[in-house]
Amino acid sequence: MPKVSILSKAVAATFVILTISVIAGIITMVVFYKSEISTMNPTPRPTFPSTTLAPPPVMRLPRSLVPEKYTITIKPEFYSRIIEKVNVTSPNQTLVFSGESTVEIRCVQKTRSIYLHSKNLLVSDEVVMNKNTEERIKVSSVKNHDDETDFLEIQLDSDLEEGSIYTLQLAFRGEISENLEALYLSSYVEGVPADEDDTNADRFLVATNLQPTDARKVFPCFDEPDMKAVFNVTIVHRRGTVALGNTQEAVSNIIDDDWKYTRFLPTQRMSTYLFAFAVSEFKPTSSKHDRVNIKIYSRPEAANAGYAQYAANITGDILSFFEDHLEIKYPLSKLDQIALPDLNPAAMENWGLVTYQEGGLLYEDSVSSLLHKEAIATIIAHELAHQWFGNLVTMKWWNDLWLNEGFATYMSYFAVDKVEPSFNIKDMYIVNDLHIAFQEDALASSHPLSPPQEDVQTTVQITEMFDSITYSKGATVLRMLADVVGEKDFNRAVKMYLLDFRYNNTEKNNLWEYIDKVLADIGNPGIAKVMDKWTSQSGYPVITINTTDGEIYQKHFLFNDSAESSLWWYVPVRVMTSEAKSESKIVWLLTDEREKKSEFIAKDKWILANMNWSGYYRVNYNPENWEQLLTQLETDPQEIPMMNRVQLIDDAFNLARAKLVDVTLALNTTRFLRNETAYLPWESAIMNLKYFVLMFDRSEVYGPMQAYLLKQVEGLYGFFKNYTDHSRVPEDHSLQYNQINAVELACFNGLEECVTMAKDMFALWRNNGTNIIHPNLRSTIYCQAVAAGGKDEWEFAWNTFQNTSDTSEKEQLRKALSCTKKIWLLSRYLEYTLSPDKIRLMDVASTIIYIARNEAGQALAWNFIRAHWDYIIQGNGAAVIGEVTRRFSTKFELQELERFSKDYDMQDAARAVEQAIEQTRVNLQWVSENKDSVLEWFENENNKYKL
Ligand SMILES: *[C@@H]1O[C@H](CO)[C@@H](O)[C@H](O)[C@H]1NC(C)=O
Ligand SMILES: *[C@@H]1O[C@H](CO)[C@@H](O)[C@H](O)[C@H]1NC(C)=O
Ligand SMILES: *[C@@H]1O[C@H](CO)[C@@H](O)[C@H](O)[C@H]1NC(C)=O
Ligand SMILES: *[C@@H]1O[C@H](CO)[C@@H](O)[C@H](O)[C@H]1NC(C)=O
Ligand SMILES: *[C@@H]1O[C@H](CO)[C@@H](O)[C@H](O)[C@H]1NC(C)=O
Ligand SMILES: [Zn+2]
Repeated sequence: MPKVSILSKAVAATFVILTISVIAGIITMVVFYKSEISTMNPTPRPTFPSTTLAPPPVMRLPRSLVPEKYTITIKPEFYSRIIEKVNVTSPNQTLVFSGESTVEIRCVQKTRSIYLHSKNLLVSDEVVMNKNTEERIKVSSVKNHDDETDFLEIQLDSDLEEGSIYTLQLAFRGEISENLEALYLSSYVEGVPADEDDTNADRFLVATNLQPTDARKVFPCFDEPDMKAVFNVTIVHRRGTVALGNTQEAVSNIIDDDWKYTRFLPTQRMSTYLFAFAVSEFKPTSSKHDRVNIKIYSRPEAANAGYAQYAANITGDILSFFEDHLEIKYPLSKLDQIALPDLNPAAMENWGLVTYQEGGLLYEDSVSSLLHKEAIATIIAHELAHQWFGNLVTMKWWNDLWLNEGFATYMSYFAVDKVEPSFNIKDMYIVNDLHIAFQEDALASSHPLSPPQEDVQTTVQITEMFDSITYSKGATVLRMLADVVGEKDFNRAVKMYLLDFRYNNTEKNNLWEYIDKVLADIGNPGIAKVMDKWTSQSGYPVITINTTDGEIYQKHFLFNDSAESSLWWYVPVRVMTSEAKSESKIVWLLTDEREKKSEFIAKDKWILANMNWSGYYRVNYNPENWEQLLTQLETDPQEIPMMNRVQLIDDAFNLARAKLVDVTLALNTTRFLRNETAYLPWESAIMNLKYFVLMFDRSEVYGPMQAYLLKQVEGLYGFFKNYTDHSRVPEDHSLQYNQINAVELACFNGLEECVTMAKDMFALWRNNGTNIIHPNLRSTIYCQAVAAGGKDEWEFAWNTFQNTSDTSEKEQLRKALSCTKKIWLLSRYLEYTLSPDKIRLMDVASTIIYIARNEAGQALAWNFIRAHWDYIIQGNGAAVIGEVTRRFSTKFELQELERFSKDYDMQDAARAVEQAIEQTRVNLQWVSENKDSVLEWFENENNKYKL
């Protein structure tokens, strides 16, 4: 499914986690807007229905019948434009679709009933026949279950016999959604009118978004991922529009003055959630490939401006990369990618018709940040990886969603590295995925990567699976496995696994079997046993090494140190020492036995465990070894590989959060930054210090903290000053990131020359209309200028936001609008999120999250989501809860949050609110225990430089 809500990096914030610094990662989640906008009112609902307790319904379809082929015709009756000619009454938009389908069903066990899924559809004219004899089987009753199952139950007068093929014919009608679910309407304004009659530039299109369980809202179907079938699809659509489907067009003909039809070639055997079509006036841009016909579809204005060109430049190469790397050809003759003005999530990997938010596909020269190319490359690579991992080989059930998402996330790094080597994308893995997995999984309320099937049954439970554990921990666990097995053998196993299960479904054990096939004995208890610890248990370990005597042990790493846990893992440990720098071989830490003696005794200066940070665990040491490592960092950091420099900072901060080391040890790891210009160590420190900012930005610690940060960043700001002042950026990709960090951190902590620079550049734009700000720095500088300004700056940003058709500019401004310090402007902005004509539905969650990140907006946002919970929960309520409560660290806030979780209906935010409560408890205790020493540390550091 979608990963990556990339958009401009600065915008990545979008859903869920994202790394906290500006330039964050790339995350995504599914968001389903479940009902009409007009039904949003702020009344809390009781959590439990008051009806008598019936046993919960069986949620899974019986396996007696298996669908083989659907022949479907669908006619979406909407207009792509509403023409206003002088004498012609304008037609009104119509949101109806209708269709017919015939499913061929193989009976594998005698039965007298057919169960399939159907939701919000009017189904009629059911006819059941034996396909061979054409004998009709009488239908005795049809019932659409009005509960969570969405079952359409068809009772028959006689039995269906094992081994026979039957056909089920039916007709259906439904409504095109205005809330981005199932088959939905999207709109945009076409900047270039077609002719003089074209006075109304509004344009409409429809597209589908069916993952995980919305196919049943478009046509009655066996809507489970292992009920794969062939789809033979015909779309009836208005003349003047283009219909795209999963496969290449087979035939297209005019029906009458208004209508035409397009029939597509039958698909491969595939899951229902990958079904897709779109009807629009979009224009294609071609991408090169020796066999596959690749096109990028976008608004005609965007296509004409060449905005799809970057995606076109790389898509063919990415597809070829996967074909070579996996040694399996992409099985379709065409691949379309479409840039939709409205879509939630950020992208969806439908087989042969991948959908994206515009920001995920369009690169606008001289408006988009140069770094935005990375976001586009990453999301395309992720979605194309799914054409193998997910589309060709699919998880049996949603509890193993990580097999789709973990693999797509992991594999995307290799593809991007191939097509854009200068991005050094593999280094970005630690900020985009590893960091996020570590954060989320350190809570006792986290969940296993692969929970039991029984725990993932309802649509709400399935939707909850689309979280950062599934994506980022999934990728991280695969990366660790590849390191243990060796990348070459790992790839060999994966290729065989794909080949043997193509057009089929798998669960995690199938993967372990194939890993076992390539493995010589690696001195462990067998890969299934090893991996089971990492996939069936939540969390991860911290190992502690005493380098004076070699004692080593592990325990479950939790932010909440009072949480009890007896979990342990098979931990592969690779160390390096100050004298021997080459990689050592893996030593397995097999149980939680304490006092285990290892060979890890420091002979010279220090020992460093978890080489290249390829293991999914944290490392703690005896104080002497920490001291040696810190000294190394401050004297000659290059002696430690970059990945591990970052790891040391991150481990120290997180061990401090869990109270396993003193907080001052963590702060000490930031000292060397004063002379550091590399991106990743800075990024890691910023991400970790963000926790300090959140905990203390409303307290007396903040002043000294800002003073310290200002001192640390001055050198970095100076390093880039020549570039920044002249609206230029360095050549090197990662230095471009660090320039943004420098400007943001300096301005944010009040460096006078930075704030003045931002204000002046913004004023020049506002007053003269010339925007000299480099696209890389726009997001940051807009934000700083709006923060330092008042009503005029804000309104200029708002008006520009509304009037521009450049997606990148819009995203940069949407974020900047949340930066004002004026409460009344923030309130107004929050209100705007209730009007889809001001803030598109897909942007509601991220806009509220931006506002909550601003300390001036935090309390407002919290009040706002409670007042409008029924609305918010239809979007990405889970992500909003996590973000809006990030500063919570007082008893009062904890009580409010607990009351909120009881009084309101949490739906698919239930797990998120539980995590937020746990996090708040941890914060509360951490602040009370650490505030004084943190304050003292900052004051001491500041005094050192006062002379
Ligand atoms: C449209 O209406 C105008 C007067 O409003 C009339 O002159 C013209 O002939 C009409 N055109 C058609 C095609 O009916
Ligand atoms: C469009 O809707 C309006 C108001 O509902 C109605 O008066 C008008 O007749 C409709 N026009 C068409 C062409 O159906
Ligand atoms: C696909 O459906 C059309 C009718 O819509 C039918 O004529 C054609 O034979 C079908 N093709 C396959 C391969 O089932
Ligand atoms: C696409 O590739 C062409 C040819 O290599 C190049 O000239 C152009 O700048 C590229 N476009 C983008 C947006 O990267
Ligand atoms: C799918 O895999 C299972 C288990 O290996 C096998 O029994 C089945 O025949 C396969 N189905 C297809 C259609 O390949
Ligand atoms: Zn995905």
